[in-house]
Amino acid sequence: MISLKSQREIDGMYESGQLLASIHKKLQTYIKPGITTMEINDYVQSIIEANGATAPQKGYNNYPYATCVSVNDEMCHGFPTDQVLKKGDLVKVDFCVDLKGFLSDSCWAYAVEEASDEVEQLMRVTKEALFLGIEQAQVGKRTGDIGAVMDEHIKKYGYTMAVDFSGHGLGPTIHEAPAVPFTGEYGKGVRLREGLVITIEPIVNQGNGFCTIDSNQWTARTTDGSLSCQYEHTLVITKDGPRLLTQLDEE
Ligand code: MF3
Ligand code: CO
Repeated sequence: MISLKSQREIDGMYESGQLLASIHKKLQTYIKPGITTMEINDYVQSIIEANGATAPQKGYNNYPYATCVSVNDEMCHGFPTDQVLKKGDLVKVDFCVDLKGFLSDSCWAYAVEEASDEVEQLMRVTKEALFLGIEQAQVGKRTGDIGAVMDEHIKKYGYTMAVDFSGHGLGPTIHEAPAVPFTGEYGKGVRLREGLVITIEPIVNQGNGFCTIDSNQWTARTTDGSLSCQYEHTLVITKDGPRLLTQLDEE
């Protein structure tokens, strides 16, 4: 269902998003060679709970953890495990926060200690695609405008968008209409309206964009073993343009 949020709901989602963003900021220094992806999960969950919030991904469609931690060729929905991170790994940490019933959702990519040139470029281009998509999140534009501009950008580097996933509306559940695809045609798709809260979350791959699902029934990884990157923000469409809810104000 497509719902438009009241000012009260937007204020609540903003507070939720600020907590989420502050946790990503902490992860920048927390993620180091030698820690496991489960330690990342537990660290995130403990901060969420210490702030009187909950981790709504846990139990969502039976997903077992507070976070998705996807490493290197994993596109998304990576299970946290005892896998030890090593220098140069590309880690995507994706989680939602529920603060007083208000949701936010954001994924950041991290290079463990240092990024090779290829990882650095993939991260930069993915983030650029996200922010180009965000610029299109205007009253009267359509979801196709967001997808088209993002896909156009990453193609210049020979990258591909994941074909099986998309962004989404947020609240009252994690996944609401409309879908916000990573590709599209300008002027096509669902019309964007004031008060609509959506995620934009391009998954960008070095290889062909196709995935296989692990035996855990969740984790998607590239079929060709190539690296995959993702950044995601939650935003609200206002008459003055997109307002990011999952970015700290100073940034
Ligand atoms: N945060 C994810 C997203 O961006 C939601 C993952 S659903 C879960 O859509 F069940 F895996 F948690
Ligand atoms: Co997410």
